Amino acid sequence: MSIQLSDILTNSKQLFDTFFESYTKELFQPLTRITDACLYSLKAGGKRIRPIFVLNSFFHPNHLPKKLNSKEHLSVYLAALAVECIHTYSLIHDDLPAMDDDDTRRGMPTCHIQFDEATAILAGDTLNSLSFYLLSLYENTDSTAIRDSIQILHKGAGMNGMILGQMEDIVEEKSPSAKGKESKLTSIHEKKTGALIEASFLLGNRLRPDWLERQSVISGYAKEIGLLFQITDDILDVEGNLADLGKTPGKDAKAGKLTYPSLYGMETTKRLRDESVSKAISLVSNLPSLNNEFFLGLPNYIAERKN
Ligand code: IPE
Ligand code: IPE
Ligand code: MG
Ligand code: MG
Ligand code: MG
Repeated sequence: MSIQLSDILTNSKQLFDTFFESYTKELFQPLTRITDACLYSLKAGGKRIRPIFVLNSFFHPNHLPKKLNSKEHLSVYLAALAVECIHTYSLIHDDLPAMDDDDTRRGMPTCHIQFDEATAILAGDTLNSLSFYLLSLYENTDSTAIRDSIQILHKGAGMNGMILGQMEDIVEEKSPSAKGKESKLTSIHEKKTGALIEASFLLGNRLRPDWLERQSVISGYAKEIGLLFQITDDILDVEGNLADLGKTPGKDAKAGKLTYPSLYGMETTKRLRDESVSKAISLVSNLPSLNNEFFLGLPNYIAERKN
């Protein structure tokens, strides 16, 4: 019997959660106001989808461990934790009054509401630098792979990746462009969300002996998954509810954000979403090591998600 995507997702989330619980206990010491704020946001209950991408671009679904053995696979768990730290920092800063000004995140008051703005800024800064430190803790990994991993994470999260996307998103909100909106929107989504998602897949893949032969296909697939993920985020902002989302819906229209529904309308947005699903599936279909239940099932799962 073949393994189901839902089991793969549950199993890999559980592996990450177990690692997270044990590893962060020692990592965030001593407990101070700043480590409290970091742990508050990290533990608030995200989906852990990026760590799941890291683990599944390293393990084949048939070889996903049943139980955590962090000694044997420490590097891949550290990569998963690193992307979750950067992602959580991006959410803390995204929610600040100077950015999207949100008061609920992951079903809890946002970091700056629970603590204060200065603490939220510093908690974000802490998680950002921490993620690169985590990559330095890789074990049994050659130095070229460590160097590549630092570069992958910087490319995804840094000044030409997530941060640039966030900048473009805010600039577009404050002074909307008169023309070229289609390409502006694609650029925002690919960078603010797609770039870190691509990094998540590439980090897991980089730790495999056959990483090079899979890298360009993984990269193309992950870019499509990133775009798809943000298209569904835009849809959920219109159609979702606070209980499912853990964040306030309707914020994009209120802020006048450039999103798929605002530019194309909902019907076309859903058609573009479905095209993106097919594109992602076709990208991995021809590479045997990626033609499996995880990579083939994931696009539909993302398109149909409720949170
Ligand atoms: C939200 O990401 C921000 C986007 C990039 C769309 P997630 O939807 O993965 O948020 P969490 O981690 O589950 O809270
Ligand atoms: C966020 O995009 C991208 C990030 C880098 C955090 P959004 O602003 O749409 O994310 P949500 O909807 O607040 O989670
Ligand atoms: Mg935003
Ligand atoms: Mg936001
Ligand atoms: Mg959003």
